[in-house]
Amino acid sequence: MNFLIPGGAGYIGIHIAFLLLDSGHDVVIIDNFSNSSSESIDDLENLMGRKITFYQSNISDETELNRIFTKHSFDAVIHLAALKSVSESILKPNEYFKNNCNGTSCLLSVMRSFGVKNLIYSSSATVYGIPRYLPIDEKHPLSSNNPYAETKLKIEEELRSISEAEDGWKIVCLRYFNPVGAHESGLIGENPRGIPNNLMPHIVNVANGELPHINIYGNDYDTIDGTGVRDYVHIMDLSESHLLALNYIGLKVINHEDIELSSIAKAGFHIFNIGTGKGCSVLELIRTFEEVNNVKIPYKFASRRPGDVASCYADVHRSAQAFKWIATKGVEEMCSSAWNFKIRS
Ligand code: UFG
Repeated sequence: MNFLIPGGAGYIGIHIAFLLLDSGHDVVIIDNFSNSSSESIDDLENLMGRKITFYQSNISDETELNRIFTKHSFDAVIHLAALKSVSESILKPNEYFKNNCNGTSCLLSVMRSFGVKNLIYSSSATVYGIPRYLPIDEKHPLSSNNPYAETKLKIEEELRSISEAEDGWKIVCLRYFNPVGAHESGLIGENPRGIPNNLMPHIVNVANGELPHINIYGNDYDTIDGTGVRDYVHIMDLSESHLLALNYIGLKVINHEDIELSSIAKAGFHIFNIGTGKGCSVLELIRTFEEVNNVKIPYKFASRRPGDVASCYADVHRSAQAFKWIATKGVEEMCSSAWNFKIRS
């Protein structure tokens, strides 16, 4: 089968592309390199030992999308093309709405006109806002307190409406918690542009000596040790969930002993949390990183980061039940693979 991956040169997309290629499928990647570079395509080519079909383009460029859809036929689209920084979205809301929402609408209309109606959409736990209860299940109320979250919510709404109004759409929306780690080869991994916002890339840069220490934002939360608790999920587990979600909508992408495919070609719009179901604090993550990699991570406590919540972790029963996806890799593997990628790149 052949899959289009808008945003496929980014951290998550490159790992999904790897798994699809490794399972014998083809991929076409579109990316504008806003938070990635052609290096990740080179890295994937090195890992696979083959050329990858790739277009440097925006999903809001309808002419280019039409050209790509005319040239290739796709079984499904795995849509990851989005701006994703909460803090940047507060400074540049227009860019976020234009890129994320208009871009997605454009992609959807081209998909429709070419009769490609299978879609895996990359959403985020940010749509839950401040958790009202834990673990967060998919029925948790939705809210947004920043433009990035608003774009994710708006797009989910558009997807739901389209799938209700028009026949044939099979859409799976995956709400990611906190993806971290890298492929075991150390050849692909997380390589954000500029100073990273997220915790793991920061830890890695401190371990490498690029930064002198890490600021831990808040040590007075009501958590196990006062620092923020999140649901970190290994990038390879998270990537695998996309293949199982494709199985769920009736495309037999990988063999899975527990799934009877003929009965599950699911039409409509389906939402799943993608996490481990377990919380891990900032200090726990730092200590694990130090232990498994035998490095020191100097840290300082700083004031709470605006917009952060104390704890956020997923209820993951729905994806386990629907398409038998369960995260298998622990925090140790997340830390060792993230460091392995850094020292090899
Ligand atoms: N943190 C620090 N120091 C840092 C960076 C982060 O202490 O330098 C802390 C944060 O305060 C938080 C935890 O590490 O407690 C995780 O922070 P991240 O920035 O890695 O991740 P967030 O949970 O804040 O946000 C991530 C994504 C969002 C997404 C959200 C969904 O970056 O896009 O998960 O749950 F919306």
